[in-house]
Amino acid sequence: MGVGKRASLLAISWLLAASAVTPAVADAPLEEVTTARAQRQLDARIRRLLAQMTPEEKAAQLLTAAGMNIANAPDHDTRARSGVGSIFFVSKPAEINRLQKLALDNSRLKIPILFGYDVLHGLKTVFPVPIGLAASWDPELIEQTQAAAAGEARGVGIGWVFGPMLDVTRDPRWGRIVEGPGEDPYLASAIARAQVRGLQGPQLGTPGRVVAGAKHFAGYGAGSGGRDYDEANVSDAELWNVYLPPFRAAIDAGAGNVMAAYMPLNGIPAAGNHWLLNDVLRGQLGFKGWVVSDNQAVRNLLTHGFARDRSDAAERALNAGTDMEMATGLSNFQELPASLSAGRISGKRLNEAVARVLAVKFRLGLFDHPYVDEKAASDGLASRESLDLAVRAAERSAVLLRNENGLLPLDRTKIHSIAVIGPLGGSTRDPAGPWVFAENEPVLQSLADGLRQNVANGIEVSYAPGVTMPRRLIGSPIEMMDRQYSRPAPADDDSGIAQATALARSSDVAILVLGEGQNMIGEMGSRSSLDLPGRQQDLLDSVLATGKPVVVVLMNGRPLTLRGNLPPAILELWYPGSQGGTALSRLLFGDAVPGGKLPYTWPRSAGQIPTFYAHLTTHDPKGSERRYWDDPSSPVYPFGFGLSYTTFSYKAVQLDHSTIRPGASLTTSVQVTNVGPRAGDEVVQLYLHQRSGSSARPVRELKGFRRIHLDAGETRTVSFEISPEQLRYWNAAARDWMIDNSTFDVAIGTDSMAPFSASFNVER
Ligand code: BGC
Repeated sequence: MGVGKRASLLAISWLLAASAVTPAVADAPLEEVTTARAQRQLDARIRRLLAQMTPEEKAAQLLTAAGMNIANAPDHDTRARSGVGSIFFVSKPAEINRLQKLALDNSRLKIPILFGYDVLHGLKTVFPVPIGLAASWDPELIEQTQAAAAGEARGVGIGWVFGPMLDVTRDPRWGRIVEGPGEDPYLASAIARAQVRGLQGPQLGTPGRVVAGAKHFAGYGAGSGGRDYDEANVSDAELWNVYLPPFRAAIDAGAGNVMAAYMPLNGIPAAGNHWLLNDVLRGQLGFKGWVVSDNQAVRNLLTHGFARDRSDAAERALNAGTDMEMATGLSNFQELPASLSAGRISGKRLNEAVARVLAVKFRLGLFDHPYVDEKAASDGLASRESLDLAVRAAERSAVLLRNENGLLPLDRTKIHSIAVIGPLGGSTRDPAGPWVFAENEPVLQSLADGLRQNVANGIEVSYAPGVTMPRRLIGSPIEMMDRQYSRPAPADDDSGIAQATALARSSDVAILVLGEGQNMIGEMGSRSSLDLPGRQQDLLDSVLATGKPVVVVLMNGRPLTLRGNLPPAILELWYPGSQGGTALSRLLFGDAVPGGKLPYTWPRSAGQIPTFYAHLTTHDPKGSERRYWDDPSSPVYPFGFGLSYTTFSYKAVQLDHSTIRPGASLTTSVQVTNVGPRAGDEVVQLYLHQRSGSSARPVRELKGFRRIHLDAGETRTVSFEISPEQLRYWNAAARDWMIDNSTFDVAIGTDSMAPFSASFNVER
């Protein structure tokens, strides 16, 4: 059958209304799509192009294929020549241009390829991992880091980023907690907006920015037992009140793409879940962009025992609302032309999906500028400016968890030697965290090197690993995808511990870097325990026994359990990225003051999971810290916790109204004073508690926050507006949003333990 004849079979009305067939590439550059006129211009170009496409060409546009050769899958050159919609995991500008040229020279319609990549926290400049950035409670900073990451990505030719990752989770056994915003939907929503604005700019198509892909829709963070990929069974109330809000925020900020998750949500695999992708995502959340499946998730509709065969999987994914398939292997969407002929999918739905993909290519300007400037691309990577931003981001993400007798900051004039100890302290790769690949030549430094270069005053920095990291029972994505990845073989003798302990003994202070390797967290990074991996606890005990001052620096993306005697100081540095050592040096000596706060509750042990602050009141509230007979059920550190080198005091909370009607707003304020000896940052946190209503409500919920800087002795009044948005919630009985008549308690303070000190009424 000829191409013209096939196209003519697609008798949908708006397609027939298409104007004369002209190659889209020859059109005048598209205006930014901010006006109705520009939208009409865009629609017309899409219609013209669609009118020329065969079903096979359409199906090809609906694939994003891994830019690597996989057994039995067509190679990417063949795919480029035959008009593939998108390729992911290519990040070298010359390779991107080469593949783009293959597509433009050889495919019939010369539709440019959209290149996608996982740029979660930087490409060559690496910023702290997302959970670390969440701990900064600084949306402006987060926006800046993502704008810098977008600039590097776009420069090399990547137009679409598979982020932000917005999976709220209350289970730190799940390794992907490191990629996300933590446990709280309000904080996560603020982060979602900041990330989308940073990645995309004020609107999709902003020069030097990319399309943001919010993922993984939805409920992936609730996988059973914290096991990656396992089913998520989420109640109606949790879905709407906890898991969906950050996606709503990302969509309101204009996110152009959403990725459907791997797992079944309440029994229905996300990529084939019509209710989720249509009624919720498009209907309720108003999403207008295109939906991509997670990698192989269309194929996995079979694995889940949902689809019958590959055609059934493709049809049900498309019909459910998945517009594009991501696949490292064979494309299932290539079955769609046959499904169309058999009438199992409609031409209208196929066109709708293709139109969404073409729209983003037009809006990114790919038809007009399909190639990148290779020289400018490499010149634009890891600029001084973005590396400085990486220092600032690592400093602002750091959380001071413990500081007995003001051990920190260290006094430069009194310290002559520092022992950096622990396998992570000398590692160059681990500070990167997940989703950082050697092929992008990321700028990285070990913490020991960063300290050496920055401590000044002739202070000597020595290093001893002490112990090795254990091997995983299963491979990790970084080990599988990154051929350059290697770790020292695990050793089990005590000689390393003895050496490191001797080094600590002969130094003025020991900086013990403990945590998890880059390969132990992220995708496929679930654990059944929160203990320090390997013999790191033994190392800690031995170094503590020297009696020397010990600062534990944690390099991790989830809470970990420290046992026995605790070190006098614990500084949470996360996986700090390109400039962790520089930031650490500034934090240790007080050139920077820690001001980050935990974006999750820190349990005592894995047995307490899930533990989160915004739980419902129990039958026995007084005993809520004694729910286990063998261990307290309170956390080690509450949500929102973090110390400083200074201290802040709070005056009583003020309200401008004692009673409001539902739908009205009020303002609450508090005076915060820096009563300590030096300038520092405080994250002022507002929590509300609804006393009664048509549903039991959490003991408290975060409803506002602001990170402020106060000089020593300075006082500031911080105000928050409490709007209807903060008072409403999804009521599972009514299956609707509600604002109840109730008394609401207000707490404003330094963390989620801040006492309630005011209240107001909502009355009809
Ligand atoms: C992950 C996604 C990621 C995709 C492509 C999947 O395994 O779940 O988050 O974007 O791979 O790398």
